[in-house]
Amino acid sequence: MDERYLLGIPEIDAQHEDISNLVDSLREVVAREGQGQLVHQALKRLYQTLVTHFAFEDAAMKMVGYADSPQHEKMHKGVLKVFEAYFEHPTDHSDYERLGKLITDKVLGHVSEHDLKMAESVRDYLGKRSPRKGKQQR
Ligand SMILES: [Fe+2]
Ligand SMILES: [Fe+2]
Repeated sequence: MDERYLLGIPEIDAQHEDISNLVDSLREVVAREGQGQLVHQALKRLYQTLVTHFAFEDAAMKMVGYADSPQHEKMHKGVLKVFEAYFEHPTDHSDYERLGKLITDKVLGHVSEHDLKMAESVRDYLGKRSPRKGKQQR
């Protein structure tokens, strides 16, 4: 997994690694023609993993008293809604390339921007240091 996605919280980093691998698999099947069934399976697996992961993060944010927790939880729901819209009406989403890109951007964008912010509070709580080189934690 790309270093910019590392938060320095082993449990969450391991979950993000799984998610990143599932995103890669999704992109792979999207790139193949006529693999609708595989795309559907890849989306299901990624969705289920995200549901578990988001529940873990939501609980972690509450535990550490993260101030932006309500907004962050809303973003999690927003990511899941993209999948749910597809599962409700798969036929409206026959452009897999567009759907795959939308989901990839949403999921990875969330990690690199919002999880990164949230991780500061979780690390402070756990007494862990930032994994970023040359970036000192207070
Ligand atoms: Fe996350
Ligand atoms: Fe998150």
